[in-house]
Amino acid sequence: MSAGRLGVDKRGAVGWIVFDQPQKKNAINGAMWRGIPEAMARFDADAEVRCVVFRGAGAEAFAAGADISEFEKVRAGGGAVSEYDGLLDRVLHSIQDSRKPSVALIHGYCMGGGLEVALACDLRYCGASAQFGIPAAKLGIAYNVEGHKRLLETVGHARAREIMFLGRRYGAPEALAMGLVHRVLPDAELEAHVDGVIATLLENAPLAIANSKTILEEYAKAEGAADHDRMRGAIERCAKSEDYQEGRRAFMEKRKPQFRGR
Ligand code: COA
Repeated sequence: MSAGRLGVDKRGAVGWIVFDQPQKKNAINGAMWRGIPEAMARFDADAEVRCVVFRGAGAEAFAAGADISEFEKVRAGGGAVSEYDGLLDRVLHSIQDSRKPSVALIHGYCMGGGLEVALACDLRYCGASAQFGIPAAKLGIAYNVEGHKRLLETVGHARAREIMFLGRRYGAPEALAMGLVHRVLPDAELEAHVDGVIATLLENAPLAIANSKTILEEYAKAEGAADHDRMRGAIERCAKSEDYQEGRRAFMEKRKPQFRGR
């Protein structure tokens, strides 16, 4: 049986990160978790990469959470739990703090840590047969702080309580109604839809996207903690960019803009 791996691949302007452990519904083991911040750093440093897409290998699962078979070794006892949570924080921040937009393409099961990664992404699209849930209470897991925070920001207090206290699974229509995903597609149309989303992200101005991402992330911080210098810096970078000139000229000249990310 293969050990499970994180597929990291650059195709054109898109960075792909693939949870690949199909025999365990793409459960995410320690090596796979550790690979995410490394991959994000690589994509962040690569000017050619304009967006990052997460998915699971095959079509049965995005990821059925962290690999529970490792918990006895790496997630038992106070010290180990806080070390594990520190790793998870690094993973989530590497996605959230990236200036490049991220997309979760969700087939099948998207649970626990899998849903945590999806929620750290900027955009989420799923197939009609996808299933979501955070069964921490069913396993006795002390679910981590960042995971709760992102869930709360996404679905609000009432729904976050039900998701965490009941630990039940939700089908795609319920996930859409709660705001866990942006859109549900027939399973067979999911990849084509995400290809269209990627094409639009690649057409649009990278600095304008990065500016909005920076400001939205800063405002999601606790009251008073938003870094106004960082936000002003993002606005200034975009306002002074060649892309902004190109965008307004292209509109006036009735042609498609060619953005370069500078
Ligand atoms: N960690 C480790 N192994 C996992 C796993 C996980 N998170 N999720 C699934 N697997 C393994 C199962 O143990 C099973 O292994 P086996 O073939 O050796 O018995 C295999 O993947 C297939 O899973 P199975 O449960 O038979 O598939 P299913 O379609 O009946 O159910 C799930 C799929 C996702 C609903 C179910 O596997 C599940 O509840 N997984 C755990 C989800 C979870 O609690 N995640 C949160 C972790 S924090």
